[in-house]
Amino acid sequence: MQTNVIDIRTEYETALNEASRLIKNGAVVGIPTETVYGLAANALDEEAVKKIYIAKGRPSDNPLIVHISDISELSPLVREIPEKVKIMAEKFWPGPLTMIMKKSDLIPLKTSGGLDTVAIRMPSNEYARAIIRKCGVPLAAPSANLSGSPSPTNAKYVYDDMNGRIPLIIDGGASKIGVESTVITFVTEIPTVLRPGGVTLEEIRDTIGETRLADAVLHELKEGETAASPGMKYKHYAPHADITILKGSLEKFIEYTKGKDFFALVFEGEEKYFKNAVTYGKPLDGVSEANRLFDALRELDERNAKTVYARCPELDGVGLAVYNRLIRSAGFNIIEL
Ligand code: TXA
Ligand code: MG
Repeated sequence: MQTNVIDIRTEYETALNEASRLIKNGAVVGIPTETVYGLAANALDEEAVKKIYIAKGRPSDNPLIVHISDISELSPLVREIPEKVKIMAEKFWPGPLTMIMKKSDLIPLKTSGGLDTVAIRMPSNEYARAIIRKCGVPLAAPSANLSGSPSPTNAKYVYDDMNGRIPLIIDGGASKIGVESTVITFVTEIPTVLRPGGVTLEEIRDTIGETRLADAVLHELKEGETAASPGMKYKHYAPHADITILKGSLEKFIEYTKGKDFFALVFEGEEKYFKNAVTYGKPLDGVSEANRLFDALRELDERNAKTVYARCPELDGVGLAVYNRLIRSAGFNIIEL
């Protein structure tokens, strides 16, 4: 299959027409969002959704996020809308927030990975919403990487992973946020964050009060433990290199790595201390770290890094999302200095 790329910033009408024509015909199209690029298909069409799993090489029990362009599209997709979901939608939609509710019969089990719940998000990226609107159906879209690789934050990275696997990629420029949306479930008695992202735990607690953080956000699932979110049990975001996170000061990091042959994954301003270094954002600035992390991981691959030592982000605000992705890409290899 030939993979075409259309830049929606310069060819708006062509991009919208082609994307919607293909999606209405049951194909999968790479689309930009503010978090990361997605692999979009008609969420209500089982056959179309199957193609997403094939293109990604994704296990079919890992459910997809359903994207909408307007709040009015929500109610047909779910059994009921909990009060707290309404409050959250009012404050954070459109944006990097995915909310899980009981699904309606409209959502095929293929889309929900066999679960009786569905994850819904309204992206803030204008191009994404225009594409959904033009298709006239909600779009199921996981991140547009091959299963196990870092999520793509621009059209080139989508092309690297999806060339020959999908007919079209819509280029809308670099993703603004750089890590995937916050996923929160309202099916549990107390709302529970399953994946941290651009909407922070602090902001959520300020908005709806008591909110849990799922154990698997910060730790590896133990043998036999069931995942609240199926995505938690798979290896994720991993470049080819072996990454080890060194928790502690920059001084201790320098001392620990002295004389070793490695790539340093460090914060801006720290690269001068190392022979081979890739930076991922500013120290103590989760937003800028999120914006750079996946690009930095792909850059390490491009530079053929084998052994990587990484600086550890702070765990508050968006930093929690950065830490959550980094520990997975490091296979939970963490050394306390
Ligand atoms: O920012 C994002 O969310 C991007 C863009 C494209 O919108 N999408 C994305 O999708 O990250 P994906 O498929 O890579 O990640 C979805 C995560 C997975 O970990 C999945 O297991 C979880 O959400 N998930 C989806 N539906 C769920 C459900 N019903 N119950 C529990 N977890 C669910
Ligand atoms: Mg993903």
